[in-house]
Amino acid sequence: MSPAPSLVICGASGDLAGRLLFPALFHLEQTGRLPDLALVGFAVESWDAEAFRAHVRERLQRFAPGYDDALWRRFSSRISYVAGDFSAGGTAALGRAIRGSAAFYLALPPKIFAEAAQGLAAAGLHRAQGEWRRLVIEKPFGVDLATARALDASISEHWKEEQVLRIDHFLGKETAQNILVFRLANGFVEPLLNSRYVAQVQITAAETLGLEGRVSYYDGAGAARDMLQNHLMQLFTLAALEPPSVWDADVLREHKVEVLRAVRPIAPDDVGRLAARGQYGPGRCLGAEVPGYRDEAGIRPASSTETFAALRLYVDNWRWRGVPFYLRSGKRLAADVTEVAFQFREPPRMLFREVDGATLDPNWLIFRIKPNEAIDLVAFAKQPGLSLETRPVTLHTPYLDKGDVEYAAYEQLLLDAIEGDRSPFIRYDEVDFAWQILQPVLDAWKTGEPASYAAGSEGPATADALLEPGHRWRPLA
Ligand code: BG6
Repeated sequence: MSPAPSLVICGASGDLAGRLLFPALFHLEQTGRLPDLALVGFAVESWDAEAFRAHVRERLQRFAPGYDDALWRRFSSRISYVAGDFSAGGTAALGRAIRGSAAFYLALPPKIFAEAAQGLAAAGLHRAQGEWRRLVIEKPFGVDLATARALDASISEHWKEEQVLRIDHFLGKETAQNILVFRLANGFVEPLLNSRYVAQVQITAAETLGLEGRVSYYDGAGAARDMLQNHLMQLFTLAALEPPSVWDADVLREHKVEVLRAVRPIAPDDVGRLAARGQYGPGRCLGAEVPGYRDEAGIRPASSTETFAALRLYVDNWRWRGVPFYLRSGKRLAADVTEVAFQFREPPRMLFREVDGATLDPNWLIFRIKPNEAIDLVAFAKQPGLSLETRPVTLHTPYLDKGDVEYAAYEQLLLDAIEGDRSPFIRYDEVDFAWQILQPVLDAWKTGEPASYAAGSEGPATADALLEPGHRWRPLA
């Protein structure tokens, strides 16, 4: 009989492992979804297994909502630890601890992804006779097109594409997956989602949060690299893809790539028209005074890192020709909102011209990903009363029903990584095309300054300038 597969967390003493991975695995254990699996922590701390288990337990007590001691006893029996780094000595020790199938999760700083992938392979850990071996990588995958390609070249020297699972945690969100299900499982939705009926699409990930202590990472990255290149591009592909005929990882990813491939390239001269960036200044966010970005501890006083980024994209294919897709994301904005919203073209409203004036607000189909996960359809109905007047009504379908168990993004993704379902992971060509789309913008933004916006506001005024005439950003607050 083959030994139980292993999940090796490389960087097991770090923040990602402690805050997100262990709690996700613990909840899977709690709900009986964790398959037969050995958890191996791998990190440079010279701990023994007991010390590592004490560390995991402390993290779970802090970050796992359903922590309990009885469950911990069961969970901890799966856990072991290997101390080491990616030098020959470290990976040899790891190799001795692993039998059979294994997934290596790189919960590490991105600058050592290549070294880790190479080190594991040098010790022969990338293959095992008759068993599977996988490499799980977090974003960011490169900091631009050239570095993404260099990283891919280094990884693919030893690891085959089908062994590499690139995580974008938005793809593990049930509500993001629901975009596809709602689009493709309902005969009345999909026929309307094209340029004949849709006037514009707005994809938003707005946060009230600031830097959350991630100064050194964020000040080098900025909103475009942190959110647009990955999470928003992924939501964009889910919103725009052609229906695949089968639910298969490669077919699905092929369809996502087709969207990215069809995006009209942004010419350097058009960056000012099709992209906008901002940086928050001091203001009030969720009722509290907060400092501006440049006044945050550890930020360079003259930093020109953008904390808000927006794009206008066009998908030059038959379905979407001429429909603008607006993507925006920012920190310290007026509200926490993640959504994908389709605005429908106005119907001829001759009938109501006399009573409502010439224009009405448009209809929207909104996939609310965070908070208040739901699908909303903003429509019009008769205003009760003796005259013929309309008023907007929202057909609101909450995602969760009473008694439903929701799984966090990392729970879904860890399970899929172990079970070998590659559909929620990103194939390298998706990464590459996403960088290709963004690269001219990043190049243009090497000079100049982001526009300032007050913390707690709707974002910089320059974001309005990238909209087509007649379009307005959906209000956040
Ligand atoms: C991360 C970004 O990938 O996603 C963070 O690095 C951001 O800056 C986070 O806050 C948002 O994710 P979520 O799931 O909280 O919407």
